[in-house]
Amino acid sequence: MQYESLSKEEIKKSLSAEKKRYDAILKEKLSLDMSRGKPAAEQLDLAMPLLSVLSENTKFPKGPDYRNYGLQDGIPELKNLFGELFGVPSDYVYVAGNSSLNLMYDMISDAMLTGVLGSTPWCRAEGKVKFLCPVPGYDRHFNICEKLGIEMISVPMNEAGPDMNVVEDLVSNDPLIKGIWCVPRFSNPSGVTYSAETVSRLAKMKTAAPDFRIYYDNSYFVHTLYEDAPELVNIFDIAKEAGTEDRIYMFSSTSKITFAGGGIAVLIASPKNMASVKEKMGWKTIGFNKIWQYAHYLYLESVSKIKSIMKAQAELIRPKFEIVLDALERDFGDTDLVSWNAPKGGYFICLKCPNGTAKRIWTLCKKAGLTITPAGASHPLHIDDTDSYLRIAPTYPSCEDLKKATSVLMTVVKIAVLESLSK
Ligand SMILES: Cc1ncc(COP(=O)(O)O)c(C=O)c1O
Repeated sequence: MQYESLSKEEIKKSLSAEKKRYDAILKEKLSLDMSRGKPAAEQLDLAMPLLSVLSENTKFPKGPDYRNYGLQDGIPELKNLFGELFGVPSDYVYVAGNSSLNLMYDMISDAMLTGVLGSTPWCRAEGKVKFLCPVPGYDRHFNICEKLGIEMISVPMNEAGPDMNVVEDLVSNDPLIKGIWCVPRFSNPSGVTYSAETVSRLAKMKTAAPDFRIYYDNSYFVHTLYEDAPELVNIFDIAKEAGTEDRIYMFSSTSKITFAGGGIAVLIASPKNMASVKEKMGWKTIGFNKIWQYAHYLYLESVSKIKSIMKAQAELIRPKFEIVLDALERDFGDTDLVSWNAPKGGYFICLKCPNGTAKRIWTLCKKAGLTITPAGASHPLHIDDTDSYLRIAPTYPSCEDLKKATSVLMTVVKIAVLESLSK
């Protein structure tokens, strides 16, 4: 429908029809959830062989005993495998426990308490430490800043990543800006992959803070849904040449390759940073679970096996994205009032509705038994001044539930659009 060209009378009539539909939905007493980017059970089932790769006859490699303490930075097999996957030498790779978010929190809280590479602890900076937060972005990143007392400065995202003119201007002038959050491939939630120019500018930009860090969360690096998905250039290659590789901490994990509740997380950093990370991590652990790391190695085997696992994952996820995208195209393809991304990978669809409607949509969905990510979650402090962004996570529900959930969402968005037009 071309909402923009509706007459007042037509708006009234359509709104009343959608409200009738909504009342009927209320009677169904639904309970549907498309709020978080969780893998569905069938995706987790793909990784079940991981549970049987270790057996009574397992021969651990010669050398340090993986059943014992030690090898704090992980087993060499996984350091090599992740090094190859991310295009860095294996000594840039720190293999940890199950959560990359945990690593991110540790790296930032540690910088607050003890600084980075000998710098003044950020909590003793002369003024409040600030981070740049490309928006829409990942709520849990913003929570870390909020809880650690870091001021967040929103930076708009465009189709090539964060607006680099804004980023460069801010970081070059303010030494209290110590970091930026980046999800460079299939961003949460915008689905954007940073262009080669964006990555290069991030690596090369002048920063007023000598201890500035890029928190480069590469969680969705291998999570492609389509073969023509855009590639991400290697930031370490560019930074090495520019002499800035100490500014990058890259994070990733197998949470959405193997088990979200039992994967393996990695931190990738320059040799200087790595020496410091090992020293500081050594204060809190003698080593992570190397037996589980070895099981992961036996299961994942090689970069090409990881890619084939991700192909199988995509087969399961792609139809779910298409259920939502097809409905959006059908119902809102003719209007500029609602827009969305059609991601080539990752876990999310980012929906942009008319200003002032996102909270209303969330509330109407909730009342109808459909949980979506709260409006505002994609912005620092949960404040989206435009009240227009919503994050849709289609992976977790079954296709049948997702169809139902999508139909509820479409009705609710139509109501919100029509209400906004009738004001
Ligand atoms: C961008 C991003 N980073 C990190 C995570 C969490 O990763 P992990 O399971 O490794 O802690 C998620 C989970 O949804 C995510 O979307």
